[in-house]
Amino acid sequence: MIRFNAQNASAFVSPDEVMQIRPQLEAAHDLLRKGRGPGCEYLGWLDLPSQYDREELTRIIQAAARIRRNSDILLVIGIGGSYLGARAAIDMLSHSFSSLLGKRQRKAPLILFAGNNLSPDYLADLTDVLENKKVSLNVISKSGTTTEPAIAFRVFKRWMEERYGLEEAQKRIYITTDKSRGVLRKLAGEMGYESFVVPDDIGGRFSVLTAVGLLPIAVAGIPVREMLRGARDGAKAWQKPDPEANDCYAYAVWRNILLRKGYGIEIMVNYEPTMNFFTEWWKQLFGESEGKDGRGIFPAGVDNTTDLHSLGQYIQDGRRMLFETVLLVDKARHAFKVPFDPENRDGLNFLADFDLADINQKAAQGTVLAHVDGQVPNLRITLPERSAYWFGQLVYFFELACAISGYLLAVNPFNQPGVEDYKQNMYALLGKPGFEKRRTELEKRLSRERDV
Ligand code: PA5
Repeated sequence: MIRFNAQNASAFVSPDEVMQIRPQLEAAHDLLRKGRGPGCEYLGWLDLPSQYDREELTRIIQAAARIRRNSDILLVIGIGGSYLGARAAIDMLSHSFSSLLGKRQRKAPLILFAGNNLSPDYLADLTDVLENKKVSLNVISKSGTTTEPAIAFRVFKRWMEERYGLEEAQKRIYITTDKSRGVLRKLAGEMGYESFVVPDDIGGRFSVLTAVGLLPIAVAGIPVREMLRGARDGAKAWQKPDPEANDCYAYAVWRNILLRKGYGIEIMVNYEPTMNFFTEWWKQLFGESEGKDGRGIFPAGVDNTTDLHSLGQYIQDGRRMLFETVLLVDKARHAFKVPFDPENRDGLNFLADFDLADINQKAAQGTVLAHVDGQVPNLRITLPERSAYWFGQLVYFFELACAISGYLLAVNPFNQPGVEDYKQNMYALLGKPGFEKRRTELEKRLSRERDV
């Protein structure tokens, strides 16, 4: 199982505090398990690992096999929860340089992402990369109305039709959206695109184990059934409202105790470059779930040891409001020894024959102890290896912890009202019909800004 350890935070929290939060943990557990908490209409992810749609999973695996056969590139269009989970899995479980390998070495199409920004240069550069490649496209949007993916889909739908003609493009475009509502669902029906469902009761950031994540992940050659099995084992194990017996709940408890003591920023730390996007997924999960009503822990991330040479100074010695959660992987995929050099001009022979994994581990241990001395409480989460099974379990660990943590904070962990504000302003400034009044107000403010 994934393991949680709070020993390096124990100097900052007394055992009494862990005892005292237990009634609140039990209340949060009841709200979640009895479906009585705020946002309870979005609890589909809770039993998903055992109650997923079998027929749809079979179709996902078949569609993935088809894309793997007939495509060099799968272009995945989506943003936020409709993008980050797939990217996290594919980056974490694939070759570090998969984009530089050929399809034969990679044994899978290259997965590229669009619709997660509004940069013209990104889209223009992406079309260069697609030139002369066999392409399939998966657009993922629960609402179907999110601007970034909608624009990218308009661009690449046309690109596909010009490249392949209507009939072949229709076979290469896959839609993942709401079961019955929205423009994408309508379009899938009209154009005959193969389509998959984002279940009504699962919000974007909790959807990686649905078709949202599973289709792109399966195309990358990652065994998605294993992923679901890992999540299922996690779901079975993390049932009791007891931090002594439930590592997932213990993580939720400790981070909330630390928050109440003034540690308002949590830094997720990894020691594997392929996990950078896992942290991005985690940041969205916790940031959107908890950051509301003037509350929440600000989720940040570092990739070590790289970032020890950039943010390390601040973490060690800057303003004290940080705690860290170090995500460690027990077993590296490869052995890689430091070579012995008879001349030893660089003085590194004390490391000769050390495996790099051991050096990485010592760096992690040394850093944790230094940061604890620098008054940064450290939590630790360990997974045995980077594999589909453990990815699935890790995803479930954080989803469940996030729900419990949100209820401990007394927020609705399943909505995201704050995301609307920028959208309304953007629509107004772009002249979308219906936003005229807001546009006048915003333009007044902008003109004042220019005067300054
Ligand atoms: O977690 C969420 O709900 C959001 O991040 C959404 O996934 C994101 O805004 C994209 O929404 P949609 O899938 O409707 O395009």
